[in-house]
Amino acid sequence: MSVHKQDIKRITTHQLQEMKNRGEKIAMLTAYDYSMAQLIDGAGIDVVLVGDSASNVMAGHETTLPITLDQMIYHAASVVRAVKRALVVVDLPFGSYQGSSGEALRSSIRIMKEAGAHAVKLEGGHEIKESVQRILSAGIPVMGHLGLTPQSIYKFGTYSVRAKEEAEAQTLLEDAKLLEECGCFGIVLEKIPAVLAGKVSSSLHIPIIGIGAGPDVDGQVLVMQDMLGITQEFKPRFLRRYADLSSIVTGAVGKYVSDVKSKSFPNADEKY
Ligand code: KIV
Repeated sequence: MSVHKQDIKRITTHQLQEMKNRGEKIAMLTAYDYSMAQLIDGAGIDVVLVGDSASNVMAGHETTLPITLDQMIYHAASVVRAVKRALVVVDLPFGSYQGSSGEALRSSIRIMKEAGAHAVKLEGGHEIKESVQRILSAGIPVMGHLGLTPQSIYKFGTYSVRAKEEAEAQTLLEDAKLLEECGCFGIVLEKIPAVLAGKVSSSLHIPIIGIGAGPDVDGQVLVMQDMLGITQEFKPRFLRRYADLSSIVTGAVGKYVSDVKSKSFPNADEKY
């Protein structure tokens, strides 16, 4: 009997909360296109993040700032068409929510309506409180993102570990509590000390998903191209590579090129 889309139990924000409550870790990965999203969903990922890291890994930009809302919607719609089980969260890109809470709501509605996403994620704490509340009041689930916030790279000038100093750590903890009070269903903590991330996770009820934030959080997220070994230059300490797709693809394409040149492809069985 074939498995139909409606037979598969979808992951919801409520289920993520239940996973935290029972101590089951949440596995989250980025995806930006139909084919890869289909593979990672089939492999059992809980949350697919259509991250604005698409700006780096898909478009080749140096930062996440250039990607547009239209481009994010294109990536998100491709991912949503593929995913049968996971929760699909989509990043609000730089410039699509900072102007006003009205703009934040309009951008979020476009993502939900045009891409069919299940939730949005945005970077920041107290400074985006009004936007978070406005999006939530429209019934759109919101995920926060604190610590290293790549959209603010030109404010900080580096991608180094954040919140190492007591004052910044205290602000981060307060921002996390504020996001929870507003009604966010989860928060991504990027590149902060493991002890601080553990403190945030144990102080809050909602799931905390870490990237470079140590093991004492409720789940982990990685950029798919990094964990599959497609990107090569990016080697932060927190990154575990689960495959070396770069070598596999280069080797396969090299073999194809030589087969075409040597006329061994296509052979007698590979024609009509
Ligand atoms: O854009 C992205 O991929 C992200 C993750 C690094 C969490 O926000």
